Amino acid sequence: MADRTTERTALHEEAARGLADARRRTERLTDLDVAELTAQHSPLMSPLVWDLAHIGQQEDLWLLRGGNPLAQGRLSADVERLYDAFEHPRATRVHLPLLGADEARGYLADVRGRVLDGLDATPTTDGSELFAFSMVAQHEQQHVETMTATHQLRRGEPLLGHGAPLPAGRALPDDDSVLVGAGEFVLGVDGTDEPWSLDNERPAHVVDVPAFRIGRVPVTNAAWRRFVDAGGYDEPRWWSSRGWEHRVAAGLERPLFWDADGSRRRFGIVEEVPDDEPVQHVCFFEAEAYAAWAGARLPTEVEWEKACVWDPALDEGRGGRRRWPWGSADPSASLANLGGDALRPAPAGAYPAGASAYGAEQMIGDVWEWTSSGFEPWPGFTPMLYADYSAPFFGGDYRVMRGGSWAVGAPSLRPSFRNWDHPVRRQVFCGLRLAWDA
Ligand code: AVJ
Ligand code: FE
Repeated sequence: MADRTTERTALHEEAARGLADARRRTERLTDLDVAELTAQHSPLMSPLVWDLAHIGQQEDLWLLRGGNPLAQGRLSADVERLYDAFEHPRATRVHLPLLGADEARGYLADVRGRVLDGLDATPTTDGSELFAFSMVAQHEQQHVETMTATHQLRRGEPLLGHGAPLPAGRALPDDDSVLVGAGEFVLGVDGTDEPWSLDNERPAHVVDVPAFRIGRVPVTNAAWRRFVDAGGYDEPRWWSSRGWEHRVAAGLERPLFWDADGSRRRFGIVEEVPDDEPVQHVCFFEAEAYAAWAGARLPTEVEWEKACVWDPALDEGRGGRRRWPWGSADPSASLANLGGDALRPAPAGAYPAGASAYGAEQMIGDVWEWTSSGFEPWPGFTPMLYADYSAPFFGGDYRVMRGGSWAVGAPSLRPSFRNWDHPVRRQVFCGLRLAWDA
């Protein structure tokens, strides 16, 4: 029998790569002056130095102490408590006696060294024993996206550059859609197929979905501009009553970061709003109003997942799930815009090779997509080790977003991945895709 304590499997490599990839991105976003790291760039966000130490605190808790908050961590209990997201709202974290930037970096490095030793010493059969390592890497990637949103909200000289090149798009009609025929499909996943899936994505279960149409690509800036120019923000009839109330109270007139002169601010650079890029930085209420104006609606998250992964031809015509919309290949630069380097969504039509079985494109990456669904558990939900990741938010005033943005790390995304936020939030890299009853 092999010595299981020293045997590093492909899953160990994947878990280690996931941790390293997240850390590379964290370092890139926090390689800044102390003043930038400790400033509150927006009341919606934490100072970057809070995210930084919180990343280490969660890694310390889940991977060095098995999630036991009473066990001694690498920080004193008093300092550790500063990084409890439930205890301190984002807007007040700047007033806490937080670790300094160098202290936080030292803490992260100390924890990571011990974690990698622990990973090497953890035997695994099917990856389930390594789940917590991936969970922690995914948590760090989520904070990387949050820190990216903080960078976007920050005022001042650009710190991140223009972004990496992207493939060209192709012209498509505004209302181009694909048909998803009626029938059952398997919603959600199990640990056996997707060992790194989080609790709220599980378990896999069969649901019946009436036929519907869904946009081939997300709604673009040019299409959104037509909504603005048609007076969409001034016509209560396109808005839900809550949405209209918010539109008036918040004075919404156009997506966040757009200027009235047709320009936008993107990571400190002012540039013309590109017509063919999927719109981002719109809240759920705006997305809902746009869809009504366009004679459409938002998809449910169940419809979204079916359009993304179901392949009716698999299993001798009984149908089955693909791992990704395009098949089983891992995401790559010709299939999807992920990983954050682009600093923007790719133009509509840029990824024909990434199409789902039904022909929907850009479901993975580019922009999160608002769905009409509230955040609820799938039947048979079981909380994971980090039991407060999902459960406290079920049934709250949230809407589910799907598909991931350009800022999401591939190791922290799957077609079953569920994100959620309040319906008024606009700092998220979120847009929408239309749907219609068929
Ligand atoms: C999944 C993005 C809604 O930031 O509120 C990070 C992720 N949870 N740390 C959030 C999360 C705990 C979560 N979202
Ligand atoms: Fe967190």
